[in-house]
Amino acid sequence: MPNAIVTGATGILGREIVSALGKDPKQWQTVYALSRSQKDTYPSNVQHDHIDLTQDAKGMADQLKGIKAEYVFFAAYLQKDSEQENWDVNGSMLKNFLDALEITGASKELKRVILTTGAKQYGVHLGPPKEPMEESDPWLEGPGRPPNFYYHQQRILAESAKKGSWDWVVTYPNDVVGVAKGNFMNLATSLGLYAAISKELDGNLVFPGSEDFYSMFDCFTSSRLHAQFNLWAAIEPQCSNQAFNVTNGDAESWQNMWPKLASRFRCHIPRNQFKVGVGKDPGSVMELAEAPPIADVAAQIGLENNVRRGKVVAKIDLTKWSKRADVENAWEKLRDQHGLDKDAFPKATWPFLTFVLGRDYNIMISMSKARKLGWTGYVDTWDALSECFDELEQEKILPSTK
Ligand SMILES: NC(=O)c1ccc[n+]([C@@H]2O[C@H](COP(=O)([O-])OP(=O)(O)OC[C@H]3O[C@@H](n4cnc5c(N)ncnc54)[C@H](OP(=O)(O)O)[C@@H]3O)[C@@H](O)[C@H]2O)c1
Repeated sequence: MPNAIVTGATGILGREIVSALGKDPKQWQTVYALSRSQKDTYPSNVQHDHIDLTQDAKGMADQLKGIKAEYVFFAAYLQKDSEQENWDVNGSMLKNFLDALEITGASKELKRVILTTGAKQYGVHLGPPKEPMEESDPWLEGPGRPPNFYYHQQRILAESAKKGSWDWVVTYPNDVVGVAKGNFMNLATSLGLYAAISKELDGNLVFPGSEDFYSMFDCFTSSRLHAQFNLWAAIEPQCSNQAFNVTNGDAESWQNMWPKLASRFRCHIPRNQFKVGVGKDPGSVMELAEAPPIADVAAQIGLENNVRRGKVVAKIDLTKWSKRADVENAWEKLRDQHGLDKDAFPKATWPFLTFVLGRDYNIMISMSKARKLGWTGYVDTWDALSECFDELEQEKILPSTK
């Protein structure tokens, strides 16, 4: 029976990988769950160890003594203020970790490393990409393009693998639907808090994002489904040295999910929500890269001079909204009434939610590559979101809607 190491064990994606491995003690002998903090209790086949991945390889090797595994799931992530810092820090966390496994000798037993990255691979944060996004799409590099730490990490991985006797898989999830505490990008918690507080204020659930995007499409990733994908890809021979999009398998739109959200939180949607409160809340608009990602292939696909710059439009700027006195009061009332985790609201990721709801272009991601190799995983995005809300209610991060 193989062992596994998971880095980023407390993160929104890593946590579910640990959980999936931990559920199958007949298949996975020992699962080493690594992170600086420990936030969960684990089944008997999971051992949590504290590690700081920002150390040098030698320091990390000392902490990794006695830890060996055939499979490594690398889902650690440290968010920095600039893309260059993200490149430096997240690149060296991966490199030093792999070097540390060389120093301890653990790499001799290694068969495969599965690295979690994301759809920023395609520049979804820079503006409209070519759609649907496919793994063979060219990387966005060169003059005018900001550093992308995913490219740096993927090169580090491929180079280290060449030197060793193991191979790799990379995943590209998008807009992750999952549960985590105090992490950097958390859609379900912020969305649930926005809805719960809206109910407390006046019961109106106004879509805070872009009017255009309300009727456009996004492909989300359930962190639980992503974990299942990781387990499948770890042992599927055809996945060797390949990168894969990992999304739920449906394409969703807020025009479809916003009414479901309103119903769950017992709110109502104003009949013409994009016209209500005009002028009351100034909202915000952020222009994205002058050359959108699709510009790099526009001439090749017959769209030269026919691409548009993207923007993020917030009908309600959620960062400003979260600082409003009536919103803070409503949160405090809910917190005290329901005994909620006091960090839930202060640590909610409002800029991330603003971004996810505010883009003015589709996010369509192809799952064909994995499907052709036999992947059949699928989850309905609203079901995944609803399941997260249930868990967040149990964890006392959201008030009970029952
Ligand atoms: N969240 C999303 O919506 C989303 C979407 C697409 C792609 N992604 C990508 O998925 C990857 C994983 O991100 P995530 O969202 O799962 O991250 P996350 O929820 O913020 O978790 C990050 C994990 O890394 C660990 N970590 C951070 N710094 C560390 C350090 N110095 N030493 C050891 N462990 C450290 C954290 O644990 P401790 O703090 O306990 O150490 C935590 O377990 C990233 O590449 C991200 O860009 C995320």
